[in-house]
Amino acid sequence: MDSQFVTREKDRLLAELFEFLSIPSISTLPDHAADCRRAADWLMNQLTSLGCPKVELLEGNGHPVVWGESPEVAGAPTILIYGHYDVQPVDPIDEWVSPPFTPTIRDGKLYARGAIDDKGQVFTLLKAYEAARGADGRPPVNVRFLFEGEEECGGDVVFDLLAAQPGRLRADAVLVADMGYYAEGWPAVYTALRGMCYAELHVRTSERDLHSGSYGGVAPNAIETICRMLTDLKGRDGTINVPRLYETVIPPTEAERAGWESLPFDEEKFLREEVTAKSLTGIESASVFERTWALPTFEFHGIRGGFTGEGAKTVIPASAVAKISLRLVPGLSLEFVKQQLQLAVESVAPDYAQWELRFLHGGDPVQIDVDHPAFGVLDRAFEEVVGRRTVAVRAGGSIPIVSVLSTGGAPVLLTGIGLPDDGLHSPNEKVTVQQMWDGIRVFGRFFELFGGKD
Ligand code: BES
Ligand code: MN
Ligand code: MN
Repeated sequence: MDSQFVTREKDRLLAELFEFLSIPSISTLPDHAADCRRAADWLMNQLTSLGCPKVELLEGNGHPVVWGESPEVAGAPTILIYGHYDVQPVDPIDEWVSPPFTPTIRDGKLYARGAIDDKGQVFTLLKAYEAARGADGRPPVNVRFLFEGEEECGGDVVFDLLAAQPGRLRADAVLVADMGYYAEGWPAVYTALRGMCYAELHVRTSERDLHSGSYGGVAPNAIETICRMLTDLKGRDGTINVPRLYETVIPPTEAERAGWESLPFDEEKFLREEVTAKSLTGIESASVFERTWALPTFEFHGIRGGFTGEGAKTVIPASAVAKISLRLVPGLSLEFVKQQLQLAVESVAPDYAQWELRFLHGGDPVQIDVDHPAFGVLDRAFEEVVGRRTVAVRAGGSIPIVSVLSTGGAPVLLTGIGLPDDGLHSPNEKVTVQQMWDGIRVFGRFFELFGGKD
């Protein structure tokens, strides 16, 4: 591989990445639909200028998918690369030191929404591809690029595409760089991703909002009701009161546990620097790794209802809505959890409340066997470039389409260049610039080694 590529091209690379990061492709906000398209166009242009003879914009019911194919390299294996060009909303906007769509480097870190999740990593893969091309412009392997724009909002476009055209999954390996190192200096591969069941709970307790003096003390209050329902669904000790939720969870194997125990982990530092709270919560008998990787979770994301403006208004709210989600671990399916959550809400809802559970999106969990030789190749690339092989861990997060990517039969390499303090989905999201330069070398080397070039 062109070992001077990064050193020589740094300035151009940063300028290109800044362009990509400046596009506010927030998939969940309808006002940003055109920006999502601009981000997709930006990727199409990249793929075209990288010499891909086939570049497609695949439409569906939502933000489009970008597909690209490298020039055919006869006899070489095929790698399918997946990533997403959409990003999360930026709020709370006041907490950003520099504006989220004005990429800014401070102290070797590049701050912007999407810097690590996932535009910065998509960019790293594109540039690894660029660096690994030979003098004739051909890469050492056949590469298929699959970039979606609905990962963060739970859309159907990529699901519908792959259901209709499963042939697009034909590959010898799938490479997903949408996660990070276990810790600084410790690259990782992931043996599981959590699934997700996202829903809104709508509660109504009267026909209209009421004066809290005239009716306080007798009228049911929708916010009080929804809060009680939520805290009945999840106890103080962290247990989720959804029937049979824990019964089918597949516990980590002894080997997996042993691997986790050998990882460096400083709970105090984790609490202070990453969680930024005073103490951890949840099921005390389970370790932090078990709680974040191997057990289901139930979180409340937002509650709407009553009066939330400036000043005071004495009102008894008639309705309230809570956004909630469960993270699913291997052994649980989205269908089962949906059904059980419905039953659980039924059992905690008081008779006086009208309620409805609206499922917004979800995905099944995935479990990945990391014994396939492709993982050895990735290890070699990491070892050559950053001096350490990967550690096998699980992810707390989810990437819904991965459960489909693994149905093609190819090994799915879940990895990435992130660091634990990158602040995914938070204000001041960043990528450490050196991680990106290393990543270009690692993935470039991976392409070469996978193509059989020593
Ligand atoms: N890249 C993340 C997933 C991730 C986060 C993997 C942390 C490993 C560690 C992805 O973009 C993401 O945020 N996914 C959402 C999916 C959800 C909206 C269905 C998530 O996990 O919340
Ligand atoms: Mn992501
Ligand atoms: Mn994300």
